[in-house]
Amino acid sequence: MIEKLKGFRDFYPEDMEIREEIFSKMRKKAKVFGFRPIDYPSLELLEMFRIKSGDEILSQTYSFKDRGDREITLIPEATPSTVRMLVTRKDLPRPVRWYNIPKLWRYEEPQSGRTREHMQMNADIFGDDSLEADADTIGLACSILDSLGLRGSYEVRVNERGIMEHILKSIGSKDIKNDLATIDRFHKMKREDIVERLVSSGIEEQKAILLCEFVEKSYTIEEAEQIIVQKFNPGNITDLMGRIKETFRILKENGFENIVYNPSTVRGLAYYTGIVFEGFDREGKFRSIFGGGRYNNLSALFSGMEIPAVGFGMGDAVLENLMREKGLWKNTENERRYYIIGLDEKGREESVRVAFRLRQRDVQCVAHSGGKNLSNALKNATKLNFTHTILIGKNEMDNGKYTVRDLASGDQKSMEMDQIG
Ligand code: HAM
Repeated sequence: MIEKLKGFRDFYPEDMEIREEIFSKMRKKAKVFGFRPIDYPSLELLEMFRIKSGDEILSQTYSFKDRGDREITLIPEATPSTVRMLVTRKDLPRPVRWYNIPKLWRYEEPQSGRTREHMQMNADIFGDDSLEADADTIGLACSILDSLGLRGSYEVRVNERGIMEHILKSIGSKDIKNDLATIDRFHKMKREDIVERLVSSGIEEQKAILLCEFVEKSYTIEEAEQIIVQKFNPGNITDLMGRIKETFRILKENGFENIVYNPSTVRGLAYYTGIVFEGFDREGKFRSIFGGGRYNNLSALFSGMEIPAVGFGMGDAVLENLMREKGLWKNTENERRYYIIGLDEKGREESVRVAFRLRQRDVQCVAHSGGKNLSNALKNATKLNFTHTILIGKNEMDNGKYTVRDLASGDQKSMEMDQIG
């Protein structure tokens, strides 16, 4: 027996059919939000990720030298390729709204919700610096989860990197980038170690403790504003705060209630410049379902063109964990699948013809080909996951009507070919 690589997954039809339904709901929602599909290669020059993904992702790449001695990597995230495509086409009318569901590869320690190969829906808006674009992006992620039956089962934790930078500056940080990375690890490290790291970048111990107390919890946007202004004296954050409050208002007003301000959400990736957000299950059992934010500088690093951007990525693995836990890991589209059984020689010939005719109308069907024994044929229909049988014998051929049986209820009807579907 040949083994599968650690951290990689096989998908058999019973799961794959559910996955396809999920991806199709993602595509459908992306389209109704005005996003158009794109695609890019699974291999890219490693250099592209050096430019801007950050060290953590770089250390997780599946990279190698190709026969032409170029440093190549399987893509660990989709954003750089998307931006590469964007800056290549200067003629595109903006704002651009693009989505895709690529496979991505990261050499991480496999664990619940973390694999070495995953599929990740990405949706990004370019050339639109408005808060409405921020709200649309979060709104799309939420609408996808809602369409999967997860309404009420998740929350979105939102933060604004600019506000965090003001806070860090006001409490004496000399290395804001490093301190944001420390906050990013807030729930993974001991409190003393967090404080120690903050102190080592110039923050007084009392202030570092105060910051930890703030970062520990989630707040309504009004609570967060009050604490930030009263405890940290962050200077002029009126515009940033006004913008994020308005984003919260739009989302709430349009039915997305589970949005909280969470100061520990700063995002590991290096390129974010403004609002950042992550979706989590409400009980906090799993890792993030999706994550994203605004990244207005990435295109300039690629091409010198400054194109504001906001987007998110939603992986398949945590989504599956959560949907299984909520009893939602099943197909919801009640598709009919017909198994056509000929009862005699003529009927068997006819069954093949009927199958091709029905497929012209996109009716899913297969003609039984496994021998003459009727009871075996009927057993096959059930075992192979068909929902209906179509029986064709002499009577049926004489009348031009076929016997259609619903295998779940046992109901049976005589139908003309054109009525079957
Ligand atoms: P990310 O937070 O690295 O962001 O990944 C986004 C989502 O992908 C995560 O919330 C998680 O659901 C899933 N994910 C990430 N790594 C793994 C893994 N090893 N196994 C399973 N699932 C995983 C990004 O990748 C950004 N490029 C997203 C983005 C798009 N930002 C702007 N536009």
